[in-house]
Amino acid sequence: MAVSADEGNPLTQLSLDQLRQRTSVKWRLYPPDVLPLWVAEQDVPLAPPVAEALRRAVDLGDTGYSHGTAYAEAVGAFAARRWGWPDFPVGRATLVPDVMMGAVEVLRLVTGPGDAVVVTPPVYPPFYAFVTHADRRVVEAPLGADSRLDPAALEEAFRIARSVGNRPAFLLCNPHNPTGVVHRPDELATVAELAARHGVRVVSDEIHSPLALPGARLTPYLTVPGAENAFALVSASKAWNLAGLKAALAVAGPDGAADLARMPEEVSHGPSHLGVLAHTAAFGAGEPWLDRLLAGLDANRTLLGSLLAEHLPAVSWRPPEGTYLAWLDCRRLGVPTEVGDGPGVASDLAGPARMFLDDARVALSSGHVFGAGGAGFVRLNFATSPAVLTEAVTRMGRATRADAG
Ligand SMILES: Cc1ncc(COP(=O)(O)O)c(C=O)c1O
Repeated sequence: MAVSADEGNPLTQLSLDQLRQRTSVKWRLYPPDVLPLWVAEQDVPLAPPVAEALRRAVDLGDTGYSHGTAYAEAVGAFAARRWGWPDFPVGRATLVPDVMMGAVEVLRLVTGPGDAVVVTPPVYPPFYAFVTHADRRVVEAPLGADSRLDPAALEEAFRIARSVGNRPAFLLCNPHNPTGVVHRPDELATVAELAARHGVRVVSDEIHSPLALPGARLTPYLTVPGAENAFALVSASKAWNLAGLKAALAVAGPDGAADLARMPEEVSHGPSHLGVLAHTAAFGAGEPWLDRLLAGLDANRTLLGSLLAEHLPAVSWRPPEGTYLAWLDCRRLGVPTEVGDGPGVASDLAGPARMFLDDARVALSSGHVFGAGGAGFVRLNFATSPAVLTEAVTRMGRATRADAG
């Protein structure tokens, strides 16, 4: 008998045949002989409370415009239970269409055209595209050799950002995509201290925050002393696989409230009501499902370590502390790392990712689009079944041996 979706590991419930019927980009960009482990979609069914909320809305024809603070209240209760954040500011949270649109709208409030936005590469490629599309300039503060935030690089970037324009900002990724680093409280306190010293406003993208894996504890940036004038973007989109159901929250610290109040009213017209209902159900009643997912991701993380050791011993990695993304250093494979279109073009392939697509029929994200320090790396999405993960890494190993021979 099939295991129902409200018990067991969400990552083992859908067959490859079922997944190939999906019409989203993960499953449709490449031909059917390719195993897609690239874009951040998960191979899971909907969490039952989310499916139930959507079914109810469909049955009622409850498909109008969103209203009220239910999303923020659900995040507030989740934040108290999960992150020990007892006083999530429901009154300083506003609905935005999705995390990136929200981040850009917040950046528009606290920076002007031509001002600098600091990012910490390698980092989520759209950070480059959205910032430049909004007529702001990207200043890079590369992560350290340990893949963590580098205070010296940040300070230097903040100084440059200050010289570029009047109102600089820092777009933080917490946890960090693609390295899966979950920033520690002391690291975030250093960010706050440096930002205050250099007059930089911090906007923290916390889309992966429910995905701290066993062994790590998430610190919401707004709970850090010194972060009072900062902002965070929160969403159920990654943890519950709801990217197609657009909604997110922009949240201000106490000293950012007046800025957030200037958010144009039309921005709140962007999120879909079905998205708000789904995200609210996820944060409100989706924790048992999330716990099973995190257990499955933890097991996949361990499995990936064994598979890499067996099939790709020249590839090195640091197991992620959060997210379902693995950042694999393929530089020792000796694949030429010619640069493609550069940061921001998420589906562009070069170097090892191009080789793994051509020779292993496995689609990964190419490291070079994540900015400085990304060339020669690939990002692998392990939110899939152990069977698909095993097949993909086995194929990748075979391809490197064929390449060498
Ligand atoms: C760090 C980060 N921010 C934002 C997004 C996109 O979120 P949204 O679809 O809500 O804009 C992603 C998607 O993978 C992400 O990894």
